[in-house]
Amino acid sequence: METTGPDSHSYANFNDVIVTHYHISLRTDFTRQILYGYVDINVKVLNSTDKIYLDIKELAIEKIVDRNNKGLVWTIPKSHEFGNCLQIIIPEDKRTVDSIFTITVRYSTTPESESIQWLEPSQTAGKNHPYCYTQCQAILARTLLPCQDTPAIKAPYSIAISCPQPLIAVCSGISCGKSSLDNYGYVSYFFNQPNSVPAYLIAIVVGELKKGSIGPRSSVYTEKELLDRAIYEFSEDTENYIQAAEEITGIKYKWMTYDMVVLPSAFPYGGMENPNLTFLSSSLLSGDRSLTNVVAHEIVHSWSGNLITNSSWNDFWLNEGFTVYIERLVMGKVAKSTQFRHFEMLCGYNDLRKTMTELKDKPEFTKLVPNLNNVHPDDAFSKVPYEKGSLFLYYLETIVGESEIQNWLNAYFTTFSNKSLNTLEMKDHFTNHFSNKDLSSIDWDTWLYATGLPPLNPTLVLDKTLSQKCTDLAQQWIQYNGKSATKNDLKGFRSEQTMFFLDEIINNGPLSHQTLDRMKSLYNLSNSPNVEICFRWLQLCLKSNYLSVIPQVADFLSKHGRGLYVKPLYKLLNTVDHEAAVKIYKTNRSFYHSVIRNVFDKELMN
Ligand code: BES
Ligand code: ZN
Repeated sequence: METTGPDSHSYANFNDVIVTHYHISLRTDFTRQILYGYVDINVKVLNSTDKIYLDIKELAIEKIVDRNNKGLVWTIPKSHEFGNCLQIIIPEDKRTVDSIFTITVRYSTTPESESIQWLEPSQTAGKNHPYCYTQCQAILARTLLPCQDTPAIKAPYSIAISCPQPLIAVCSGISCGKSSLDNYGYVSYFFNQPNSVPAYLIAIVVGELKKGSIGPRSSVYTEKELLDRAIYEFSEDTENYIQAAEEITGIKYKWMTYDMVVLPSAFPYGGMENPNLTFLSSSLLSGDRSLTNVVAHEIVHSWSGNLITNSSWNDFWLNEGFTVYIERLVMGKVAKSTQFRHFEMLCGYNDLRKTMTELKDKPEFTKLVPNLNNVHPDDAFSKVPYEKGSLFLYYLETIVGESEIQNWLNAYFTTFSNKSLNTLEMKDHFTNHFSNKDLSSIDWDTWLYATGLPPLNPTLVLDKTLSQKCTDLAQQWIQYNGKSATKNDLKGFRSEQTMFFLDEIINNGPLSHQTLDRMKSLYNLSNSPNVEICFRWLQLCLKSNYLSVIPQVADFLSKHGRGLYVKPLYKLLNTVDHEAAVKIYKTNRSFYHSVIRNVFDKELMN
């Protein structure tokens, strides 16, 4: 995309003009599936210029005015499949350095706006009311509001959102009350985000939500049908995770409240770190708290990602790799077990190996820092930035030592708080911090820019106490077809160990149909209440061409919209039975979020 600014995924000319605040005021219209209203955008001129370029996509612009309600001249001079360029002419008296002014854009979203998923009552747990939520990361904020949709630019914002009773609205900020009921039966809800954050963190959810307390600064919102399960799942450790992250980063949690909302399982991610309001998939409600690492992960983004942010999507590992690295320190600390931390790192490595096989035709995406020019960040999304990135930080830890790396993390967060940065700035910061140490053994170029698995194989250095049983059991199945396996094999396992066991087989499989018949009758994994286990079992079956599992795959795909499950399953299904893949996809398409539909419409809607 030929842009008008420095970020290859955005038209924003942010070297010349920057947004300093957004005030978003929108009304929900479920009948037309739109949000409509206006956004006040405060801007500041850095280099004298007569134009500001904003990102928009799938929005209907009604008019653009200045503070005095005087019309401003605007056009859309450039377009690309990633979005359109909204050009606004800056009033003559505001073009010089340090000028500040406010632009008001009256607009509405459209039913096509990809950041917003509209759910019918039948697609909710309560079945009585419609529901909608937004997901803006990576480059979909432009489909919710005109903005500088680049992670290089951060600004505070406020949001007012009105919706019909008995629905409520919750947003990614601090709640500042609500209006009284208006003549149309609508109530407005107010939120403020005083910290500077990138536009991709703006988030809204509207539904018949109830609230339950789960900690001194935390509540969970969800439909009443899910509330008790959500409280059970997340009340034990949320506050512990926040405190552990404060200790590890050496920096206090700065966002005041930490709430979360449990969304319908159509949500395409496990979790999303919207500030003050993490979005979570209801598929995390496993009933045994075994998937709460996702909460730890989203909490850690309060530092890596939200306090300091990758300045472009090429540097995404600075958000996710750091977060996974710290997430595992947090999990180890709360469980008081280094063994558990090591076990989680080994799980991550299994995932990385699996991902490398899936990406064998797309080597660019196996680099820690890929070149995403003309690539949609969603198309490049994989576990690579997460797992290669966190492994790199673990590698650096082995070079400098655990307490030293924590000192560095503290310095890193202090230096870059409220800023965005790229990989080279991180590297410079690290090397300067350790200028008195010999770092010559670190092969930065290979870690950052080489394809495939990285130079460190962690299975050779990590503690295997918790994984050994899983590996042993997996070997029994791989080598001896599970001859001596029994119904009780998995009884003493934590859910994470069962996941590990299955990943080991997937990475070394496939298994024969006879062996799978045997495993199915002994372990009955299709019916596991834990989605991660169920997902891996289906993955193993499809990889082994075990077609009798297709009805279960179809059932799973109708209930879960998380990309991490749905994408590999459709891909596998498509290779073993294209017709079934097309049929199942068509049946479930309306349940999926646009980021999922964008991937499969090309392949499965023919
Ligand atoms: N920020 C991500 C989700 C995301 C990434 C959305 C890129 C859109 C574009 C979130 O923090 C995340 O990483 N979620 C993971 C959680 C897991 C690694 C614990 C997920 O949903 O799988
Ligand atoms: Zn993340």
